[in-house]
Amino acid sequence: MPKQQKRIMRFLKQSDLEAIVAIDQAETKQNRQEYYERKINSILSKKAEINCSLVCEIDGKVAGFMMGYLFFGEFGISDATATIDGLGVHKDFRNHGVASEMLDQFSMNMKAAGVKKIYTLVSWDDFALEKFFSRQKFVPSKRINLELTLP
Ligand SMILES: CC(C)(COP(=O)(O)OP(=O)(O)OC[C@H]1O[C@@H](n2cnc3c(N)ncnc32)[C@H](O)[C@@H]1OP(=O)(O)O)[C@@H](O)C(=O)NCCC(=O)NCCS
Repeated sequence: MPKQQKRIMRFLKQSDLEAIVAIDQAETKQNRQEYYERKINSILSKKAEINCSLVCEIDGKVAGFMMGYLFFGEFGISDATATIDGLGVHKDFRNHGVASEMLDQFSMNMKAAGVKKIYTLVSWDDFALEKFFSRQKFVPSKRINLELTLP
């Protein structure tokens, strides 16, 4: 990564779709265009509460994204809470604080919105992501994640 670079932290927009799909594809080896199209449409929908999803641009290129939602009272939890359900940094820009900076900005925005807790889910065998959140002081939640396998 070049030393002199212009970093911008901004809210996600529709035109980020292609870059986000590419970051995800490099990681998951799947093209999840439809999934991200639906997700971005839902985030940017006028009916949605607030767009709190972020993108970090470096020299005009999407270097990373953090997708999240704000909840006011869902799941019977009365406090405002936030969830991060999408995070990815382009391989060329990793280990330069991009994800940490996005999380700082996300946390600051959520605090301003009255949020007391931010939740996320990490696959039990995704050690890199788990390590990142652990370093950022995330701890196992008191909320229980339940599942039912359908026959
Ligand atoms: C986990 C992930 C988000 C981290 O992104 P990142 O931008 O590299 O994260 P950061 O740079 O903020 O932190 C990573 C490390 O770099 C270090 N770092 C931060 N700033 C740094 C800097 N300026 N110089 C050097 N190292 C730095 C951090 O201390 C951290 O080290 P640690 O892992 O030992 O704690 C990224 O690896 C990723 O996208 N993984 C794939 C996630 C995934 O599967 N998503 C689903 C599909 S996209």
